[in-house]
Amino acid sequence: MERTVQVELGSRSYPIRIGAGLLEDLGAACRTLAPPDAAALLVTDDRVASHWAATARGSLEAAGRRCATVVIPAGEASKCGARLTELYDAALAAGLDRRSFMVALGGGVVGDLTGYAAATYLRGIALVQVPTTLLAMVDSSVGGKTGINLPQGKNLVGAFHQPARVLADLATLATLPDREYRAGLAEVIKYGVIYDADFFARLERDIAALRARDETALLSAVARSCEIKAAVVGQDEREGGLRAILNFGHTLAHAIEQAAGYGTYLHGEAVAIGMHYAARLSCRTRGFPAADAERLAGWLRRVELPLTAKGLSWETVRAAMAVDKKSAARAPRWALADRLGAVAHGCAVLEPLLEEVWHGLDE
Ligand code: NAD
Ligand code: GLY
Repeated sequence: MERTVQVELGSRSYPIRIGAGLLEDLGAACRTLAPPDAAALLVTDDRVASHWAATARGSLEAAGRRCATVVIPAGEASKCGARLTELYDAALAAGLDRRSFMVALGGGVVGDLTGYAAATYLRGIALVQVPTTLLAMVDSSVGGKTGINLPQGKNLVGAFHQPARVLADLATLATLPDREYRAGLAEVIKYGVIYDADFFARLERDIAALRARDETALLSAVARSCEIKAAVVGQDEREGGLRAILNFGHTLAHAIEQAAGYGTYLHGEAVAIGMHYAARLSCRTRGFPAADAERLAGWLRRVELPLTAKGLSWETVRAAMAVDKKSAARAPRWALADRLGAVAHGCAVLEPLLEEVWHGLDE
């Protein structure tokens, strides 16, 4: 079982292939990407490498591709200048030229770092995203945002660089820790809220199968999520407007991640809290039905995702929001729901209401 979703961006359009076992097809899938004598650089992290690097490398080499490998330490700290330099060094040492490509095998950390290296090495070479976390399959590998962190903050240096292909091998999720998997599910339900009420209802019905990582349910959920992301990015690649709906739940999530210290909450966990909060704000400001806010909260509870950030004060979280790079004049802008499947972006909310809704959040 395999599905292909196309991201339509003119000459930079690309396919997202989704299915179990696709890693073995990596070499063949890249054959037309570069001439046979052009080398590739495979980048992965030390957790993913132990499970999946040999298959990826074997597939590339079986297709006749000369391939160097860089294994970075797992974790957000690797999205930094030092690792980026390591990738440039390895690319030069392996003789990558302008016809070459890089392969990002891993979660969003590997994808963002490798994507930025590919965007900038020799002023840009091709990139293949091979996401191995659920979050990377439905979000970070699609849409072309790449970048690294600075000591001053997350994702402060980056570039838009669309991949030439995305291969989401659902079999790789078998080794993903449960906490990471459940955090990825938060981004999946987001697509139902922002774009497709029927998809939301399907995710409600499929919740047990999704928790059990059932392949049929996963294929359908990942494919629909990618279709929605592709549709949004196809209309607004550079986030001039519409793409901001993908940030539903993220204004608070980013502030929670920063205020709690990165790593305390996984990104998807912070997004779960942020969506619960945004849904409640939507009820108060845009007539979003309270029953639908409760449906969302119920789904998140069943996935055992958090709905509140225990121990964090409003003052700390609000201060973190003011420095978010998407705040306008230090006032956060919100993606808020009118109804399931319809979200507005760029919404301003009065300050007292922001605090009141925070204090009213329940588990
Ligand atoms: P991650 O890349 O840190 O991966 C999470 C953990 O799972 C890591 O320890 C990793 O080694 C491990 N792992 C990955 N795949 C595995 C597998 N199949 N088996 C076993 N272990 C596996 O985290 P993530 O959640 O995938 O991505 C988070 C990053 O993505 C953040 O840096 C965030 O800023 C970025 N992001 C980018 C975009 C974008 O549009 N570019 C969107 C969302 C998030
Ligand atoms: N993750 C949000 C975006 O790609 O725009």
